[in-house]
Amino acid sequence: MTEITAVDAPILIFDSGVGGLTVLAETRKALPAAPILFASDQAGLPYGSKSEAEIAARVAGLLGRMSERYRPRLVCIACNTASTIALDMVREVLEIPIVGTVPAIKPAAALTRTGTIGLLGTQATIRQSYVDRLEAQFAVGKVLLRHGAPELVGPAEAKMRGQPVDPAAIRSAVDGLRGQPGGDRIDTVVLACTHFPLLAKELSAAFGPDVQLIDGAAGIARRIAVLCGDNAFPPAPRIRAVTTGDADSFGQLLPHLATYGIDQFDQF
Ligand code: DGL
Repeated sequence: MTEITAVDAPILIFDSGVGGLTVLAETRKALPAAPILFASDQAGLPYGSKSEAEIAARVAGLLGRMSERYRPRLVCIACNTASTIALDMVREVLEIPIVGTVPAIKPAAALTRTGTIGLLGTQATIRQSYVDRLEAQFAVGKVLLRHGAPELVGPAEAKMRGQPVDPAAIRSAVDGLRGQPGGDRIDTVVLACTHFPLLAKELSAAFGPDVQLIDGAAGIARRIAVLCGDNAFPPAPRIRAVTTGDADSFGQLLPHLATYGIDQFDQF
């Protein structure tokens, strides 16, 4: 029997914090008529310092419960850490399409001129065999230097609340790549954490004009659009948010969330 997708069923975009907004923005460009639910696990932030077992259990459990409550037509795990660890598990649990976030190593390998690529992710992401496999498959003959940069997650969250970005955090992430043997040859940096494109301006200024930054958000949005195919959407789509965290803290984000079309949030 063919399942009929309810016209109001949202695309659920999930992240540990505000990082998923980078994917939300691209998804709105690709599918302007789609209803979207932005789900932010602020109570679990940051994922990058957690163990694999903790992240897998948390993400699969939350997405199972959120799917029961909100009946999404598709789930996007807009978080590299959660995707590289829990994607297979979530796909086993849920019977709707699941789109993951994969470090953009393939496009970076096509773009680099020097053959040396930098990768900034969380500590949990950079140690995943998923990343090893992407490197083996798409970066043959290239050098991939990885750096875990948890120090960028807080500043990305702060920036979205209208607070200043700590320049020391930016400097530390840049030095973490540049300071490795061969790091001076990096001309392409993969932002393998959805929080990091929110700091693209600051990172770009610190790396200098010869380094290009690349992330997967536009590719993910294209994949979502393909999977939604000819789905019907409601005449006036809502973009809403839910947070697992503190309402006052999430409320500070509202002025910024409004620029993404989100004017209301609930606690999950
Ligand atoms: N946004 C998440 C990612 O893409 C990471 C942030 C965190 O440590 O929770 O990996």
